[in-house]
Amino acid sequence: MQFPKIIQGGMGVGVSNWRLANAVSKLGQLGVVSGTALDTLFVRRLADGDEGGHLRRGLDAFPFPEMARRIWQEYFVAGGKPGDAPYPLAPVHQRKDIRKAIELCIVSNFVEVFLAKEGHKNPVGINFLEKVQMPHLASIYGAMLAGVGYVLMGAGIPLHIPGVLDLLAAHHAAEYKLNVTGAVQGQDTQMRFDPADYAEGPLPLLHRPKFLAIVSSNTLATTMLRRATGRVDGLVIESPTAGGHNAPPRGKLQLNEAGEPIYGERDKVNIGELRTLGVPFWLAGGYGSPDKVREALDQGAAGVQVGTAFAFSRESGLRGDLKETLLTHAATGTGEVFTDPLASPTGFPFKVALLDGSYSDPDVAAARTRICDLGYLREPYNAPNGNIGYRCAAEPVANYVAKGGKIEDTVGRKCLCNALLANVGHAQKRKNDVVEPALVTIGDDLNTVVQFLAPGRDSYSAADVVASLLSKVTTESAFEAEPPIQIFA
Ligand SMILES: Cc1cc2nc3c(=O)[nH]c(=O)nc-3n(C[C@H](O)[C@H](O)[C@H](O)COP(=O)(O)O)c2cc1C
Repeated sequence: MQFPKIIQGGMGVGVSNWRLANAVSKLGQLGVVSGTALDTLFVRRLADGDEGGHLRRGLDAFPFPEMARRIWQEYFVAGGKPGDAPYPLAPVHQRKDIRKAIELCIVSNFVEVFLAKEGHKNPVGINFLEKVQMPHLASIYGAMLAGVGYVLMGAGIPLHIPGVLDLLAAHHAAEYKLNVTGAVQGQDTQMRFDPADYAEGPLPLLHRPKFLAIVSSNTLATTMLRRATGRVDGLVIESPTAGGHNAPPRGKLQLNEAGEPIYGERDKVNIGELRTLGVPFWLAGGYGSPDKVREALDQGAAGVQVGTAFAFSRESGLRGDLKETLLTHAATGTGEVFTDPLASPTGFPFKVALLDGSYSDPDVAAARTRICDLGYLREPYNAPNGNIGYRCAAEPVANYVAKGGKIEDTVGRKCLCNALLANVGHAQKRKNDVVEPALVTIGDDLNTVVQFLAPGRDSYSAADVVASLLSKVTTESAFEAEPPIQIFA
């Protein structure tokens, strides 16, 4: 079995889009699309007129044509909506989603993977955050209908996903337990998805994608391998220097003078122990350079997972002006990254590029009126009437508190759903010309990305990154042979 040396990490929302993943997979490494909030992103791309007709091409290849037609008819706007008009909203997810929400997940995940696979025969992966649970089942099925080769998942402990992959590969119904705060014994918290409720006509033969768990510690690595409901094909070990969400430090949270979480010895991963687990592993977080790739291979890793370097490539979905400004900062060594312990409603530390005029700017944050209209990070909770309620620590404070949330948990929280869509050029337009601000997440490696800029150039491609990262890889390394796969299910 061949494994990639480079995994281009999943970057939500829409930063690792089909274009980026296509470019990386074409080169024989693993391109990964982000599956996070793809339904909303899909709606917004259709509302913007589907420039280039790519989504239409994907929809034409979708195996359930009536479903594709319904979505096209509802959301496509020829020539794009007027610039100042708001985007239509996809239905907000809940434990038992309405049919339209499920169809949007199936279709949007299918199309993203389909487009990433076009024009080559190499595998493509899809990344999900375990914490964003409600869209999981339909999204994974949609990606599998398009023949996704790898599912990668972190930001939580995705013990039940491997079993879900086994069931969905056979078009069987799958269940997934929703984490509900305060749930009582016997309460029904299962989510259920049965492909038979959505299929039109004969079903295509599906392959079970490989599953890679993204973890941050030896303990979690072992737990995944021992307790997962199906085969775990490998591990991505992500350190807290990585872009996106980071695992919190072990023990009591301590902050440095700047207000960032302090990571210590206990947070270091023992790579020697990883080598004994019997599955391939990739190292992530600050591995975006030829020397670090070489180092990872020498330590027995199958390769590395890199995000930050790819986020600035021409193919990524990050808005052009944000790329340009941050690349200019990087070129002068003045880019600043802050590990924000509060911004994310998930409670996980979240890496943020400090950028004037963006949501990282305290004035912009203070001026934003709280609203929760996308809801991917809503926390399900057991409401006093015994139903499941949903709340987000970044929603209007009074609403959150009325739903039993603690006021102190709302401090410093930011609406990542709206901000991350703004990062990729699909900011929601509000009344009075207000536009949702961007909040760029990026790794501590921000300033090192200048290494990919050729002299005299102000941009680089995904191919430039791949060529550079592999430039010190030789075939002599004892560890480059694939480790044997052991199954711990
Ligand atoms: C813009 C950006 C968005 C990210 N979003 C996600 C995500 O949605 N899911 C995820 O598992 N990891 C996410 N990551 C982490 C990457 O997949 C990858 O593991 C990480 O970037 C590797 O470290 P590096 O940033 O030092 O290269 C993101 C990283 C970046 C830079």
